[in-house]
Amino acid sequence: MGFYSQDLLEEIRSRSDIVDVISGYVRLQKKGSNYVGVCPFHNDRNPSMSVNQPRQIYHCFSCGAGGDVYKFVMEYENLTFPEAVKVLADRAGVELPEQEFSKEARQQADLKAQIMEMNRLAAKYYYYTLRQPAGKTGLDYLLGRQLSQETIRKFGLGYADKYSTSLYQYLKSKGYSDQLLKESGLMQVDEKRGMYDKFWNRVIFPIMDIHNRVIGFGGRVMGDGKPKYLNSPETRVFDKSRNLYGLNLARLSRKPNIILCEGYMDVIAMHQAGFSQAVASLGTAFTAQQSVILKRYTGEVLLTYDSDEAGVRAALRAIPILKEAGLAAKIINMEPYKDPDEFIKAEGAENFQKRIDEAESSFFFELRMLERQYDFREPESKTAFFRALSEKLLEFEQGIERNNYIEAAAAKYHLTGEQLKRMVDQTGERLGGLQRTPAPANPSASRKKKTEDGGLRSQRLLITWMSSGERMLRNICRYVEPEEFTDPLCRRVAELLAEQQALGRLNPAALFQQFTEEEEQQKVSAMFHGTIPDLSGREEEERALQETILRVKQGSIRWQTEHMDPNNAEMLRKIVQRRREIEKLHISLD
Ligand code: GTP
Ligand code: MN
Repeated sequence: MGFYSQDLLEEIRSRSDIVDVISGYVRLQKKGSNYVGVCPFHNDRNPSMSVNQPRQIYHCFSCGAGGDVYKFVMEYENLTFPEAVKVLADRAGVELPEQEFSKEARQQADLKAQIMEMNRLAAKYYYYTLRQPAGKTGLDYLLGRQLSQETIRKFGLGYADKYSTSLYQYLKSKGYSDQLLKESGLMQVDEKRGMYDKFWNRVIFPIMDIHNRVIGFGGRVMGDGKPKYLNSPETRVFDKSRNLYGLNLARLSRKPNIILCEGYMDVIAMHQAGFSQAVASLGTAFTAQQSVILKRYTGEVLLTYDSDEAGVRAALRAIPILKEAGLAAKIINMEPYKDPDEFIKAEGAENFQKRIDEAESSFFFELRMLERQYDFREPESKTAFFRALSEKLLEFEQGIERNNYIEAAAAKYHLTGEQLKRMVDQTGERLGGLQRTPAPANPSASRKKKTEDGGLRSQRLLITWMSSGERMLRNICRYVEPEEFTDPLCRRVAELLAEQQALGRLNPAALFQQFTEEEEQQKVSAMFHGTIPDLSGREEEERALQETILRVKQGSIRWQTEHMDPNNAEMLRKIVQRRREIEKLHISLD
């Protein structure tokens, strides 16, 4: 995006009022000082998207999408930044200098965009090859696996032919250098053969991000060769821990849950059978980042891991990760079949729906797996099982939830609720004494986490305040240095806002260009949309601000204290001095 001057971008922005632009796509209603509408970026019927006119930004409180007017158009129309600039420029009647849109300029623009473009071309090439005589093997294979033409099209499936330099030559003909081709992950290099295609004689599964941009590929061997699946390596655009196969479609499925499978073929077979909420991880274990992403779209994840040992292990690993993100997890039983693809082929969609309806809650699944490790005919082993069960029940926060699970587990093992509850309490006391309680139940650890979260909340609130108006920004900058924000993202935003204040013009929307990562943009837009306590009068405002600034400063000092070298006397002196300063801190607004 480096080839547009900042002035030009600002010119276009100033003529593209965000409320006007978004109204062209989504019905907005005025509500208080904001406009609200149904967010087009996730499954929703409720107006969870808020558009803030003074700050010229939007934010969805449900899925976290957010940014400035350029970002909205990029997301909605699925465009690159330069393309979105063009759309808005046309709309506003601003003329773009011709050369800013040349192919060379765009190719220089940035590596990520270039890799995306190579991926797009490669996907088209594979897709085309599948329909050529040279692709017949591939097409026959896919049809043989009972995929319809419609499904093949929808997933953009393709074929890499038998020759190991077809794609290489094609991309060379499009003008890409060897250096760039190497960065794309589409090629392999060795000393003897030079550069050649990573994928050949394989059916190709393009992997897309949620905006339908191709970020990598999976390739399946035809028949029984090894390795069965080959995946693109991670590149500048392909992060396997932050993407999920099929999420581009699943997020729009309007289903009450998301189904997590193991393989690409499973996802495709499920979608074909009408289960358009199916996704899979990318040939690697399910990650915490992926669970956080899923949480944007759903509250419940159903697991369909293979019904073999490895599948059970994978499910047992995924469950705590899902729970940590606040997702309910259930397990779909696929017996006697290996995976959803086979199940659907053998029994059809209706029976699969039954299995979905009967899915087992993760707790009972974990219990069943636990049971397997004990022999109930042996009294000692049986007692050990109940001890393990009690420990498991202690993972639930005390209260209704724990009691409900105690009742349910007691019923399952023919005990009374009272009996099991007593066992759980005894186990709790024993473990408490031994300090073996899991982290969330450990009061000092959770208190620590709470103050950390609290610190982050204050930092974010202060950013909200800073971005609320020039007077507020000027005032806050008198009392707080950007370095006092301990959260790296808050600190960067504070720095940028302080810069704007020094230049005398607050422009929150302009600041989004500094953040290239989706996640960062979302967090920033959330901060800009935070609610400021409703304050009447200057005195109240001063008091509230004083409290927040104090908390941010205290957090910064606490951080310094925790991270300093205890032998550094000079540092210690400074910290003590800062402590004194904040004791005397008195905020007065102009
Ligand atoms: P089909 O035999 O085509 O039905 O495969 P599947 O979808 O049932 O996949 P399987 O359960 O064998 O593997 C699940 C997923 O693990 C695949 O979709 C791949 O992402 C990954 N995977 C499987 N085999 C390999 C391999 O040999 N190498 C790598 N890197 N990944 C693999
Ligand atoms: Mn399979």
